Amino acid sequence: MPALARIRARFAASRPFAGLTVAACLHVTAETASLVRALEAGGAQVRLCAANPLSTQDDVAAALVASADTSVFARRRVGPRGYSAHIDAALAGRPSLVLDDGCDLITGLHQRPEALRRVLGGCEETITGIIRLRQMAAAGALAFPVLDVNCSATKAMFDAYGTGQSTVDGLLRATNVLLAGRTVVVAGYGSCGRAIAERLTGLGACVVVTEVDATRALDATIHGYRVLPMARAAELGDIFVTVTGNRDVITAEHVAAMKDGAILANAGHFDIEIDVPALAALAVETHPDVRPDTDEYVLADGRRLYLLAQGRLVNLAAAEGNPPSVMDISFAEQALALEWLVGSAASLTPDVHPVPSHIDAEVAGFKLASMEVAIDSLTPDQERYLHSWRPELKPGLANNPLTPKSSP
Ligand code: NAI
Repeated sequence: MPALARIRARFAASRPFAGLTVAACLHVTAETASLVRALEAGGAQVRLCAANPLSTQDDVAAALVASADTSVFARRRVGPRGYSAHIDAALAGRPSLVLDDGCDLITGLHQRPEALRRVLGGCEETITGIIRLRQMAAAGALAFPVLDVNCSATKAMFDAYGTGQSTVDGLLRATNVLLAGRTVVVAGYGSCGRAIAERLTGLGACVVVTEVDATRALDATIHGYRVLPMARAAELGDIFVTVTGNRDVITAEHVAAMKDGAILANAGHFDIEIDVPALAALAVETHPDVRPDTDEYVLADGRRLYLLAQGRLVNLAAAEGNPPSVMDISFAEQALALEWLVGSAASLTPDVHPVPSHIDAEVAGFKLASMEVAIDSLTPDQERYLHSWRPELKPGLANNPLTPKSSP
């Protein structure tokens, strides 16, 4: 994660977080550990809990605790009560800054008025969290400014590729199916769904898209995908991937229409896109872990359906999530956004704010440098030209006999 490494070196010199506590609710992975180390180099005390019980890498959590005084509250496969208790424990440190992925930490913080007063601001990593935060802001319930890291240009650019690749990776690790020739239904053609559909197509799958947004559905159609309502796609799919950020995208009605052997996976943030309780209610037998991260549900008519990673983020639970080079961008953005917040939070309203574009440009510059990619820079003439609306003659043209003389 070379961009983050550069930022860590800079933080070690400037110590922007000296004396500040950062509570973070992120996937506890090796990449997150690099972010934590960068913030600690900048003087922060970090209290980390997990954004998803199935994405926690226990060895990483243990290593963070062992090698420094990071407080980590996370354990793979912890139940809902443990998950909430871990969030409470992260917040018990009375943070000044928060880093969230899905908004569970920030909503938890808003139930603790005494802790809220100390918070300068926060950053949110994913669209599901941003949607919740916008609702909080609209209802006047958000108590501090939050930067929308999800929508920053560099993060969005890399994230889609990472989610696309790692979702396919999760599908393959959990099932080892041949994707070529299979019909894969991708529910949701947003930035993640589009990337997943592209990668599946590259592996020879026949991709069907379901959408609720006309513009996105049109986009999918002109990219060559068959677009259908889920009620019809349910009969056709060999594999289903939900990635909408919405609930009940696959319900009992859809399950009832599915083929024997259909595989169900979710790459959206929460485990509510596939109605797992409805699937369990329809099943007469359940065989957990027929392969790692694959549960078999046998329906009354003998059909078998396979649910991956209990309907949780398949790319994080069954694979390793976004590759480090993707998280390098996301976390470089998070680190610089948090640094900027320390100096700017007082002038921001309690709302969701975009990350300033100069931070995006800085992250892009770090990443390009680490990839040894050089680019051109504007000449003074080009700079002037781009900032002027007046027609301008090129210097050589003024003496050209063919150039029309201006009227006196
Ligand atoms: P997005 O907002 O760009 O796209 C979501 C799409 O789903 C939209 O086009 C929307 O119209 C569509 N949709 C909503 N309800 C639907 C329904 N009932 N049926 C069909 N389509 C429906 O969001 P983005 O960035 O693609 O993220 C989607 C989800 O994935 C979010 O929950 C986000 O937090 C999560 N995410 C997961 C990652 C991972 O590593 N697995 C990485 C980044 C985001």
